[in-house]
Amino acid sequence: MKTLILYFTTDGQTKKIAEKLAETITHEVELISLKEQAVDFAQKIANADQIVIGASIRYGHFHPLVYQFIEQHYATLNQKKTAFYGVNLTARKENRKTPETNTYVRKFLAKIKWQPTYVEVIAGALLYPRYTFFDRIMIQLIMKLTKGETDATQEYEYTDWQQVERFGRLLSDIKN
Ligand SMILES: Cc1cc2nc3c(=O)[nH]c(=O)nc-3n(C[C@H](O)[C@H](O)[C@H](O)COP(=O)(O)O)c2cc1C
Repeated sequence: MKTLILYFTTDGQTKKIAEKLAETITHEVELISLKEQAVDFAQKIANADQIVIGASIRYGHFHPLVYQFIEQHYATLNQKKTAFYGVNLTARKENRKTPETNTYVRKFLAKIKWQPTYVEVIAGALLYPRYTFFDRIMIQLIMKLTKGETDATQEYEYTDWQQVERFGRLLSDIKN
């Protein structure tokens, strides 16, 4: 049994989640960034028994490369056991952390031709000091409007690691 985890990250949180999943899954796991260029993804997918794709939201959207990747590989993905996890800050709210209640993930799934076997919505991190001036101001404004943390000198991690571990255990179970 082999699981391939593909992730698209900008500030590292989606990768950190991928690494936690890899740690929890009890069989062979390979982790690859979707930004890698020298990888034969078609072959990697064909050789894996289970494929997991993770991506994060920036200004309301998953990166175009994620859509492009899925458009290229959905036929093979639909024949395998697969999972998708979407990372964003809205998911820090209890009523916005399912595929049905998280608008970004709901819209994404409606748009693509891949139907993942499992979908998980996971809260990300807010790393103010690492953002550019423009991003910091924009995110601060969004957080203010949504009653979130606005102290731009701090970093906040909303990721529920128990949720990630549960997800990893589910992916370990080859009978599912
Ligand atoms: C510039 C920027 C824009 C973002 N836009 C959104 C957004 O529109 N909605 C949301 O819920 N989270 C948004 N986020 C939060 C990210 O999804 C969150 O920080 C996540 O952990 C990023 O994952 P990554 O480090 O793997 O890229 C944004 C973050 C940044 C830095």
